[in-house]
Amino acid sequence: MGSENCWFLLLVLLLECISTHVTGVKRDILSTKTSYLWSHDVTSPITKNEYTTVNFKGRTCTAVHVNGIFRHGLRYPSAGDMRDMTLLQNKLAPNVRNAKYDFLKTWNNTYPIDKANFLHDMGKEELHAIGSRLGKRLFSLIDGNMDTIHFVSSSTQRTKASAQELFSGLSLGVGDAQSTAITPQINDNLTRYFDMCKLYSSSVDTNITVLKEYSSFLTGDLFRNVISANEARLGLTNSSLSADDILMIYKTCAAELASYNRSDTWCSIQTDDEREILEYASDIEDYYLRGYGVPINTAMACPIVQDLVNSIEHVIHNHNHHLNYSVAKFVFGHSDTVTHLANRLSLFRDQQPLLASNFDVMRNRKYIVSHTTPFSANIVFVLYNCHQGNGRPLETDYILRLLVNDEPEALNCGDSICRYVDTDFRNIVGCNFDEICRNDNMLSGVIVG
Ligand SMILES: *[C@@H]1O[C@H](CO)[C@@H](O)[C@H](O)[C@H]1NC(C)=O
Ligand SMILES: *[C@@H]1O[C@H](CO)[C@@H](O)[C@H](O)[C@H]1NC(C)=O
Ligand SMILES: *[C@@H]1O[C@H](CO)[C@@H](O)[C@H](O)[C@H]1NC(C)=O
Ligand SMILES: *[C@@H]1O[C@H](CO)[C@@H](O)[C@H](O)[C@H]1NC(C)=O
Ligand SMILES: *[C@@H]1O[C@H](CO)[C@@H](O)[C@H](O)[C@H]1NC(C)=O
Ligand SMILES: *[C@@H]1O[C@H](CO)[C@@H](O)[C@H](O)[C@H]1NC(C)=O
Repeated sequence: MGSENCWFLLLVLLLECISTHVTGVKRDILSTKTSYLWSHDVTSPITKNEYTTVNFKGRTCTAVHVNGIFRHGLRYPSAGDMRDMTLLQNKLAPNVRNAKYDFLKTWNNTYPIDKANFLHDMGKEELHAIGSRLGKRLFSLIDGNMDTIHFVSSSTQRTKASAQELFSGLSLGVGDAQSTAITPQINDNLTRYFDMCKLYSSSVDTNITVLKEYSSFLTGDLFRNVISANEARLGLTNSSLSADDILMIYKTCAAELASYNRSDTWCSIQTDDEREILEYASDIEDYYLRGYGVPINTAMACPIVQDLVNSIEHVIHNHNHHLNYSVAKFVFGHSDTVTHLANRLSLFRDQQPLLASNFDVMRNRKYIVSHTTPFSANIVFVLYNCHQGNGRPLETDYILRLLVNDEPEALNCGDSICRYVDTDFRNIVGCNFDEICRNDNMLSGVIVG
């Protein structure tokens, strides 16, 4: 090794020493691999029944129903990612010339391949925390009515198990330690409609061009600087890092934090500043695959909106006629499901699109997946009746409140609480999924005979 290289390595090591003493690992910058617990505070004090009643224009309104759409909780890495971790380790271990990263020579990949994509203990923790807080805040609505709650999930293990864990959390919240196993209703038409949308498949899912901003970000200066900084830090000889390697280190860091709370292995290869650049890469990809980047990603939420409106109208009807109804409905889908609905509600929408060229401008963007759609991300509606006394409530006596990841977000009336009749749901509920998706060889609409 030439003396130039030695000086260079010395400098890198020196900078390393300084930086590792200054920075810890920021956990809320891991984009789609962020735990809800890392980007949302589930320990702030809450009050029993604080969501059960609300004052609206001088009237006291009482919760009659809660409807939530969830992303499943934190899951184990996919089988492909588990294999890629070992491949990357095998590539790096013989070439690393910085003793700080000797862990690469002895690291054992202990991610269980038979649990690939399964809900992780940390995901269970997320849903327990969310459920117990919601149960406590809606105590009088939920208590004694746990058995009327309607759970729907997609057909994957992680969504079904997430429904079960939310149920356990709600039970904790109302202090009724029910250990009952629930069986969510499986409905992929409602939760995985994106698998059945031709226009989405042709224009997004199988369209490489849709990711052109993402690809150019990966070959741009910012990303290339991360690559060379990581190569220099590892002191790689006879080997270089690809963009995929860099993203794999980032993902493995997230997995090490979630499974083992370890920040001294893969996470130590990159800095927080670098991870913010990788987070932007991942958010650009998400923006075009699921977000506002392509119009079908908003229009496609049709089945979820229809289901929501049908549930609410059913509750209003039955409540008015003194018939029983589910006090709660919780639907468990995927990041796509929650993101499409967020798009439909115009949430987290920036003035500008996410582009390869605007990292700096977009630093304070609204579309930041670590916060908007981490694992267990949720969009929750609470329906209230404001009618008191005798007589039947009118439709105008019902109000709707929107909570996204436990924070109030504005509905189209400009506030997080609107009269139900003032929301635009009933204007968009007439959407036709097969028409939107150009599923022309499928039956659409009712055949009147
Ligand atoms: C990895 O596994 C081997 C064999 O089981 C063991 O000897 C070694 O100590 C393990 N390495 C670490 C870092 O745990
Ligand atoms: C899902 O949709 C398909 C096609 O429209 C239909 O045949 C099937 O019965 C639906 N399944 C459920 C559970 O609604
Ligand atoms: C693929 O995506 C690009 C960019 O969004 C778009 O212009 C093009 O029409 C899409 N291709 C198809 C087949 O939909
Ligand atoms: C460099 O890598 C190549 C291919 O992996 C290998 O054949 C060669 O022996 C390596 N050279 C050194 C000096 O490690
Ligand atoms: C995880 O590690 C951090 C320090 O890296 C520590 O502060 C925290 O308490 C640990 N969490 C758990 C659950 O052990
Ligand atoms: C409503 O009551 C009927 C009859 O008791 C029962 O079969 C049904 O499951 C109830 N529905 C709900 C949502 O509780």
